[in-house]
Amino acid sequence: MARRNKNINTEDEKKKLSKEGFKKLLGVFRFVLPYRFPFGIGLVLLLLTSAMVMSFPFMSGKLLDVASGKNDWFINDINIIAGILMGVLFLQGIVSFLRVYLFAYVSENTMADIRYSLYEKLMSLPFSFYDKRRVGELISRITSDVSMLQDTLSVTVAELIRQFSILLIGMVAIFYTTTSLSLFMIGTFPVVIIIAVVFGRYIRRLSRNTQDELAKTNVVVEETLQSISTVKAFTNELFEAIRYRKSLDSVIKMALRTAKYRSGFISFVIFVLFGAIVSVMWYGALLVQSGEMTVGELLSFVLYTTFIGASIAGIGDLYGQVQKAIGSSERILEVLTEEQAEDVINETEPFRLQGHILMKNIGFAYPTRKDMRVLDNINIEINPGDKVALVGPSGAGKSTIIQLLLRYYKIDNGSIHIDGKSAYDYPLRAYRQNIGVVPQEVMLFGGSIKENISYGKQSASMEEIRDAAAKANALEFIESFPEGFDTMVGERGVKLSGGQRQRIAIARAILKNPAILVLDEATSSLDTASERLVQEALDELMKGRTSIIIAHRLSTVRQADHIFVINEGRITESGFHDELIQIKDGVYSKLVKLQFAEEAMQA
Ligand SMILES: Nc1ncnc2c1ncn2[C@@H]1O[C@H](COP(=O)(O)OP(=O)(O)O)[C@@H](O)[C@H]1O
Ligand SMILES: [Mg+2]
Repeated sequence: MARRNKNINTEDEKKKLSKEGFKKLLGVFRFVLPYRFPFGIGLVLLLLTSAMVMSFPFMSGKLLDVASGKNDWFINDINIIAGILMGVLFLQGIVSFLRVYLFAYVSENTMADIRYSLYEKLMSLPFSFYDKRRVGELISRITSDVSMLQDTLSVTVAELIRQFSILLIGMVAIFYTTTSLSLFMIGTFPVVIIIAVVFGRYIRRLSRNTQDELAKTNVVVEETLQSISTVKAFTNELFEAIRYRKSLDSVIKMALRTAKYRSGFISFVIFVLFGAIVSVMWYGALLVQSGEMTVGELLSFVLYTTFIGASIAGIGDLYGQVQKAIGSSERILEVLTEEQAEDVINETEPFRLQGHILMKNIGFAYPTRKDMRVLDNINIEINPGDKVALVGPSGAGKSTIIQLLLRYYKIDNGSIHIDGKSAYDYPLRAYRQNIGVVPQEVMLFGGSIKENISYGKQSASMEEIRDAAAKANALEFIESFPEGFDTMVGERGVKLSGGQRQRIAIARAILKNPAILVLDEATSSLDTASERLVQEALDELMKGRTSIIIAHRLSTVRQADHIFVINEGRITESGFHDELIQIKDGVYSKLVKLQFAEEAMQA
């Protein structure tokens, strides 16, 4: 677990290039398979362009040789050679265009497929998965990790192949033409380049440290701006400013350390790299002087060497890219191969429950806090159509009982039977369609009121939606908006009050028409006026359904067919209202007294 968290936290973490790492990369690259034909054609075109590019130094050399009258090639005309050169360049332009377009086609499609698979998987993962992860991390897998892979697919793979083929062709070409100079070059050039690459990588690591340091300063800014009211209330402006200055200072220190190495690196590269070129040219000039080599051959040689040098440096760069891609594919695969997915994506045959609920000896602890027993020996029986109330202090475990009924989590002990059959034996999707929940905090999606109501039944007609809104006591306020049902709500729309959102949630539930209805403190955060409107709507909604009501205000509970008092995960009292208030020092009678006193105070 700890290791996994580490992977999530360090986005840029690089992976050692191991067999397993490549396997992971391949695991993600199976998404390319459907597009293997355009991909394959792209690869062929890529090899073609590399070959064409590599004819450039050769032809340039010939051009010079013809000019200096030392040509032994079958074409002996400057104009024709230059024409061929232009032709090759033009052709390579066309082929490159096709190649880049094909790779883009493949990578865009592949990435969309990966994102879709990830999202579908995330949608079907249970709460126990989400309890362990932060939403931001999951989002970054769909966004930045996939983008990382996209770069790899559309650029890195192509570049790797290109650089390797250039390296290969270049080497063969120079060894074939001038072996002695090639041997001399091999002794100097690659060594210099490899040193430069290693040194360069070290510097990059240093500059990443600088960036981390900078990110830390950003945290200070973010935190304080977000809670600016706290900063001001405690007049800690100066304190925060000093804190920010301090972290800026450590950024400077780190950055200057990096700059020292970078400056050294640049001088080193200029001197050594050019030194190597000069010495190759020196040796080459000696060969030309002694007549072992023509000027044109020397030019070809120098050009080939430049290509080879660039490709070696390029491969070094790409190595880091591949490492990052492996890290990303690991994080993507972790989600894709997650085994505990629920079967909620596939359509199943719908059915309607009667609504008989029997919970027996239920014991439960949340997977993230296994040591804390949240429910212990819970026994509840509810007959079809009954209204049952769960009452108790906050944190007692009331909502947890609902989560278990919804099969959000698996119970540890005991059993849940619905209509005489284990709840776990029903197909999940159709099962959950039988249960409707009106929660305390209603979340509306960005969109119109109409869309938000039809979230309860995607196929609902406008009449059905209107009807549901009317039954939910929501029609009046909806029609008071100029745009009516098309009024946009959510983050960028109008702000609805708690009571209004509650009634939209009720309209949703009415459309869903569930056999079992759960009201989890549905009226707890409302003022008295809107509570009455919501309560009326709820009464309408509860008709003819098995209903479970969790409520703080006992007025809503009074008429329940049965009341269960939950305290610290156990049922401590149960019965009718009239029975329960008889229990001396009982939790319920205490709650009643407390509320009675409160109401008297308010009056
Ligand atoms: N997802 C969760 N993971 C771990 N613990 C939880 C989770 N949800 C609730 N709990 C804990 O379970 C206990 C019961 O919570 P809950 O059922 O929400 O109480 P109630 O609805 O009665 O106020 C509390 O101690 C709460 O902290
Ligand atoms: Mg609760």
